[in-house]
Amino acid sequence: MHDEIAIESILKEKRKFKPQPEFAKAAHIASTKAYNQMHREAEKNFERFWARMAKEHVSWFTPWKKTLQWKLPFAKWFVGAKTNVSYNCIDRHVEGPNAWRRNKAAIIWEGEPGDRRVITYGELHREVQKFANVLKSLGVKKGDRVGLYMPMVPELAVAMLACTRIGAPHTIIFGGFSADSIRDRLNDAKAKLVVTADGGWRRGSIVPLKEMVDQAVGDVPTVENVVVVRRTEQQIVMKEERDHWWHDLMESASDVCAPAKLDAEHPLFILYTSGTTGKPKGVLHTTGGYLVHTTVTSKYIFDLKEEDTYWCTADIGWITGHSYVVYGILSNGATSLMYEGAPNFPDVERFWQIIDRYKVTIFYTAPTAIRTFMRWGDAHIKKYRLDSLRLLGTVGEPINPEAWMWYRKLIGKNRCPIVDTWWQTETGGILISPVPGAVTTTPGSATRPFPGIFPDIVDENGEPTRKKDAGGYLVLTKPWPGMLRGIYGDPQRYKEQYWSRFKGLYFAGDGARRDKDGNFWVMGRVDDVMNVAGHRLSTMEIESALVSHPKVAEAAVVGRPDEIKGTGVVGFVSLEANETPDEALREALRKHVAREIGPIARPDEVRFTDALPKTRSGKIMRRLLRDIAAGREVVGDTTTLEDYSVLAKLRGDED
Ligand code: PRX
Repeated sequence: MHDEIAIESILKEKRKFKPQPEFAKAAHIASTKAYNQMHREAEKNFERFWARMAKEHVSWFTPWKKTLQWKLPFAKWFVGAKTNVSYNCIDRHVEGPNAWRRNKAAIIWEGEPGDRRVITYGELHREVQKFANVLKSLGVKKGDRVGLYMPMVPELAVAMLACTRIGAPHTIIFGGFSADSIRDRLNDAKAKLVVTADGGWRRGSIVPLKEMVDQAVGDVPTVENVVVVRRTEQQIVMKEERDHWWHDLMESASDVCAPAKLDAEHPLFILYTSGTTGKPKGVLHTTGGYLVHTTVTSKYIFDLKEEDTYWCTADIGWITGHSYVVYGILSNGATSLMYEGAPNFPDVERFWQIIDRYKVTIFYTAPTAIRTFMRWGDAHIKKYRLDSLRLLGTVGEPINPEAWMWYRKLIGKNRCPIVDTWWQTETGGILISPVPGAVTTTPGSATRPFPGIFPDIVDENGEPTRKKDAGGYLVLTKPWPGMLRGIYGDPQRYKEQYWSRFKGLYFAGDGARRDKDGNFWVMGRVDDVMNVAGHRLSTMEIESALVSHPKVAEAAVVGRPDEIKGTGVVGFVSLEANETPDEALREALRKHVAREIGPIARPDEVRFTDALPKTRSGKIMRRLLRDIAAGREVVGDTTTLEDYSVLAKLRGDED
């Protein structure tokens, strides 16, 4: 609701942290001068800049004829070039000048129960080729979509890379989503095959993944085969002909499968994310540009070195896991740590144990996690050394300066730079972030765009705001290599969603301001999308889940400030006539949403109301509901409110 939010700059942060000379000296971008030089190069000719990046960081079978073909809003990068993502993430580390990496750890993995595995590049090479052959043997061809609904186990990375090897786009569905969500996504993508596991471990319990897939796949006519990784080992039902054990198929598969030479614009994956309407959007990413973007940003923003042990705590089911657990990291030949379970299992020390055990050097997590650690107190952290760490990162939502300072002090021991990275599922890779070693940071700001990225802040009319510190809408003025290429199967929605609000500009949905130093401060969503614990949830999607309950007549969902999750979910519900609101129904509705969408979407609070506040034209006035949900005085204009008594009742209804 653009008309309802006045973007005000609320933060006035003065603390600044210059890059430390010892860090800078060894960094890939070792000085402000070198960094500015990179910016100037990109500003002069951004296509040439990205072409240089692409040549230096990615291996191509055939070079491109044209760096960028831009027919707004449709971009093609590295037109005519051929490459393969699995080749870049694996083969080039086991052959040629870097063949010495063959026995280097690609993935260091720890399961929640404490089991451990180290997968070298050489082993990854064999496993990926084997699974690529398995996919082929089950009839998966170039262009066919493969659904992945898996726990955080190495087989997930193997399956992703095997898909990229043969050019079968994957669509990963986060393991916390419900059967209905799986069904909708698989149907939208028309997936031919699904890879899952019997279950995954989460806080000591089994998440019954295969059971969910069974419920979903019955209603997905395109799925022919389901491959099941054995992980939790409980009894499950295997449907004859359709279901196969991963280990059975792998046993007899050949470990030779040449990487397909794929067009730079060949679809790499579809990842569903919430939008402003009820239906999730299948964000489409393609091969060459995405690979260049994630490889280059991984290297410079995380200052990735050969000897680093890098740990991103995101689940691979989200974009952060795609880009910065798997693709960008392995493409650099680095070591990526993967942990299966919860941060507080068996107790709150788990993450710090992992950091000390494997001597993690780079740690990338979400503000919501940091706020949770803070709540757990400092004592448990102080028991650990954490002295291997040299760089910290955050992603997913604005970080409050207090959490930033805590992160710096308690985890980073005032020694590690922090990169606050702003980006989105749609952007494929990081767009705004400090480059450690070159950029002065300040708590709460993602600072400057990466070279070759051109954000701006505009007002209601799409005019750039030139006044320092003025808030506005965050837009991108030029295409970038990792950008989404569309919404799967819906070019019209792609245009409307991202390119219609401001002419010629990509509108990201966020509000931001830029301070006098040119630093960007992202202030959060300005549309009907909430950011809950670093995950995007659409208010409409939760509303339609609520309304799908037989007792509910109408529902409106808004966010309210939440100390840990950033935003808490509040549902205002009016019931069908003759239904009585009570505690049991409240609980039933919360459960209903969790079942329909997944536990992440479960409302923190359900409030019953006789009617929802509406404008005369029938639009729900969310601004009022947001104020009520947050316990604030209802301020601002209510003159368009259709029925004043509704507001009075809602306010009185504090239950
Ligand atoms: O609102 C911004 C917020 O997360 C949104 C993107 O969500 P998603 O596509 O799920 O991707 C999350 C991981 C990249 C953005 O529109 N966001 C992400 N990073 C930041 C952020 N807000 C402020 N600061 C960030 N560093």
